[in-house]
Amino acid sequence: MSERSDVGVQRLTSAAKTFDEQTHLRAEAVIARYPRSRSALLPLLHLVQSVQGYVSQDGIAFCADKLDLTAAEVSAVATFYTMYKRRPCGEHLISVCTNTLCAMLGGDDIYQALQTELGGDGAPLGHEQTAGEPGEAGSVTLEHAECLAACDLGPVLQINYEYYDNQSTASAIELVNELRAGRRPAPTRGVPLTSFRQAELELAGFFNEAAGADDPSAAAETLRGVVMANENGWQAPAMPEDATEIHALPPVPEKK
Ligand code: FES
Repeated sequence: MSERSDVGVQRLTSAAKTFDEQTHLRAEAVIARYPRSRSALLPLLHLVQSVQGYVSQDGIAFCADKLDLTAAEVSAVATFYTMYKRRPCGEHLISVCTNTLCAMLGGDDIYQALQTELGGDGAPLGHEQTAGEPGEAGSVTLEHAECLAACDLGPVLQINYEYYDNQSTASAIELVNELRAGRRPAPTRGVPLTSFRQAELELAGFFNEAAGADDPSAAAETLRGVVMANENGWQAPAMPEDATEIHALPPVPEKK
């Protein structure tokens, strides 16, 4: 056996100890949802994060083994998407939108205020750094995020991907202090706040139905266009049977 495969075997043994039987059963349930097992990689990475709070080397080995992929293939995916974390997260993950619209409405100020609030010894907390011991009660990881798809409600932040709309520096600091005191302030809309790891389990497809999965997540601002259309009897033109005729592209001039 080569040295490299020895390392691989050691990693698999370590992964087997890290992930309990329930996680293995959940992984099999996720894989069974797809015609091709490799399609289950994204939810499996969320499942790994629900156990460890990040994607560790053991987590990569676990996914690779379950899906018959190489560790390099799993790593390539895990390092591409920002929702997969390279370092252990706190009990809560705070994502502050600093994209253009939210930034102009105060998102940059909110992010900087939280950096200062959560920092220690005069140093602001950095992107994806954690105040407190990762995973322990009251620990908080901070990140800045690109557009969180709630521009009509900016500046927004998310805690464990639940929305807190129309924020200010004062309200954001209050939210953080609530979290650090062990409380879970209600999101502006959607389901009640849980923990980062519980949210990751839901992203893997395992929901706590009792927690209110059917709570409305749309905001009045977002639905205003639909309401206006209904009030005024506006409708989009019906799609023709043969869409190619109406949407035919103009001819492209030949290159010379
Ligand atoms: S710019 Fe912040 S949600 Fe779109």
